[in-house]
Amino acid sequence: MTASASNKTDKPETRDTARAARDNSGGTDTGGTEPSENAPVFSHLPVMLPETIEGLRIDPDGVYVDGTAGGGGHSSAIAERLSGGRLISIDRDAEAIAACRTRLCKFGGKVTLVEDNYRNLSPILDSLGVDEIDGALFDLGVSSHQIDTASRGFSYSSPEPAPLDMRMSRSDSLTAYDVVNGYGEDELRRIIYEYGEEKFAAKIARRIAEKRATTPITTTTELSELIKSAVPKGSVERGSHPAKRTFQAIRIEVNGELDGIEPAIRAAVERLRHGGRIAVITFHSLEDRIVKRVFAELERGCVCPPDFPVCVCGRTPTLRAVHKKPITASDAELSANPRARSAKLRVAEKL
Ligand SMILES: C[S@@+](CC[C@H](N)C(=O)[O-])C[C@H]1O[C@@H](n2cnc3c(N)ncnc32)[C@H](O)[C@@H]1O
Repeated sequence: MTASASNKTDKPETRDTARAARDNSGGTDTGGTEPSENAPVFSHLPVMLPETIEGLRIDPDGVYVDGTAGGGGHSSAIAERLSGGRLISIDRDAEAIAACRTRLCKFGGKVTLVEDNYRNLSPILDSLGVDEIDGALFDLGVSSHQIDTASRGFSYSSPEPAPLDMRMSRSDSLTAYDVVNGYGEDELRRIIYEYGEEKFAAKIARRIAEKRATTPITTTTELSELIKSAVPKGSVERGSHPAKRTFQAIRIEVNGELDGIEPAIRAAVERLRHGGRIAVITFHSLEDRIVKRVFAELERGCVCPPDFPVCVCGRTPTLRAVHKKPITASDAELSANPRARSAKLRVAEKL
């Protein structure tokens, strides 16, 4: 097993150095699937599992990529359907890879685990000597395990105070602490507004700036209470938490979550064989908008302005949408797994 390279650096001084450190971090652990004794208990229900597997139309001898292995739910269902084929399961979170190592060891050499960012899909495939693939899956966002492990700092509702972390990969340097205590108030407001779609972004950013001017904000519970105090009472939808949107925004910033989606889709589509399929599951409109736009562009091909009488770009479609509309979870799934409520599955086939 190749040891995972770690480019962990000291805390960033600026946003750009933070991003550079983050983008270079990770490293590829193309380990086998021997179980690890220290693998954490990993609880995550795979979303729209039958629909995803049907969408991928698995060839038992094909080569598949799961770009977001998580607890290995989707990976396991793909691997079960392979005979001579191969699955490459990627996750940037070492705990996810450890959980997959335990769960997927029964498939032996059919499964290759890679601890890395899916935005590095092309170099990952090159390093494994894989030119073409038959299918790719990206089940975006965080896992229930990441949210439910209070110490990782993703949870806005856990009564246990946890350090402001929120890194999916602990070898990345930027943490939620850096964002909350180090970003300017305007930048914080922008992030909370854009990534959290939070209408009280300005009030929340102001409250954070006021508080940290005296003492740094260090825990999830402290941040959550602060946000609660900044949001007008009675303005939050029933059943929602006042800090939910802000935590989502900070998490997206910390992990650069939106940056990697388009490059990963393009890299996967480039590697797909004719007739191969790509499936993407999104959990909020920011992710879904990116997937919808990139799929639409690849389905259209031509990028000439609509008022051009004839095509001059010469580009032709590379994808065909498998469904007219995105698939959503069934009522039965929603009652078993409320987390599937906002999920949308889009599947497209390489032409
Ligand atoms: C929704 S969970 C996937 C769950 C998985 N399909 C299952 O059945 O258990 C998303 C996973 O994607 C991982 N992830 C998110 N962004 C990533 C990225 N850019 N590169 C690699 N993994 C990423 C997270 O660490 C998390 O484990």
